[in-house]
This record gives sequence, structure tokens and C-alpha cells, in this order.
Amino acid sequence: MSDKQTITITPVGVMRCAIKTPGQAPMNYSESQALGTIEVFAPYLEAMSGLEAGQTLVALCWLHEARRDLLKVYPRGDRSRGLRGVFTTRSPMRPNPIAVSEFTVTKVEGNRIEVTGVDVIDGTPVLDLKSAVCKSGAGSRDR
Ligand SMILES: C[S@@+](CC[C@H](N)C(=O)[O-])C[C@H]1O[C@@H](n2cnc3c(N)ncnc32)[C@H](O)[C@@H]1O
Repeated sequence: MSDKQTITITPVGVMRCAIKTPGQAPMNYSESQALGTIEVFAPYLEAMSGLEAGQTLVALCWLHEARRDLLKVYPRGDRSRGLRGVFTTRSPMRPNPIAVSEFTVTKVEGNRIEVTGVDVIDGTPVLDLKSAVCKSGAGSRDR
């Protein structure tokens, strides 16, 4: 298999929220109080088992409107900081525009997960959801 293989990923859901353009979105989840609902697609509903209000959910999202041709950016658009390689930033602009966000779950109902801390726009594909790593309980050592 080639080192440069192409990977096909099927989203497990989609973000629904009031943020309609990248310019309206908070820069990062850590500074966001925005509400949103992750709609999980039918084949993946069983994967929501155990999900409850109050949990922190790590979401990997595909920033579908982001530029993918830039390898250097001004961090946070601040030109005084100079250009930096995108791998040293959280810029949405990168070859594979995957966002890592931590949302707080406020309600789970059917295929809908209501969350706060949203920093992605309406219609953003959700690639995966994971529990936040913690020292005990669910986390990095789960298999
Ligand atoms: C800097 S990213 C941070 C995302 C994630 N928390 C991370 O650190 O990987 C958040 C920014 O991405 C942009 N954005 C959000 N959703 C997007 C989308 N679907 N397509 C393109 N840009 C998007 C917005 O400008 C938003 O401020």
C-alpha cells in the first residue's frame, strides 16, 4: 500500500447551529458559548449508547468550506505575528481541514445531541465523536 494513500471517510453526523459562515464562528471551542445540535446519522445510533448530558465530547469535524491550499498562515489572522506553518496552529486552513473540538453535552434525544461550545458552522460534517480523556473511566485506554 502506498504511503500517500487516499482515504475515504463517511461522516457519522452533521452539526446544526445558528452559525452560518466561518466569519461568524468563534475562533475556538474554548471561547465559545454557542449552542448546536449534532444530528447522528441512522447507521451510527447504537454508538450513542451511554451518552449523557454533562459529558464532554471530543468532536472531529471536516471544515468543508476551508481552503486546503495554504501551508502557512498568520495565526488568528494577526499579521504582526508573522507567517507560521499550519501544523503549528489551530487554523481551519490546512491540507486536511479536520477540526478537533470539545463540546459539552446538554441533552441527548433520539439521534440528536445538543451541545455548547460550538466553533463550527451549520452543515459541518462530523467525522467522529469520542469521550474526552480522563484519568479514570472512559478514555484513551478503552478498546
Ligand atoms: C480555528 S477552527 C478551530 C476548530 C477546532 N476547535 C480545532 O482547534 O481544530 C474554528 C474556525 O474554523 C472556521 N470554520 C468553522 N467551521 C468551518 C467550516 N465548516 N468550514 C470552514 N471553516 C470553518 C471558523 O472561522 C472558526 O472560527
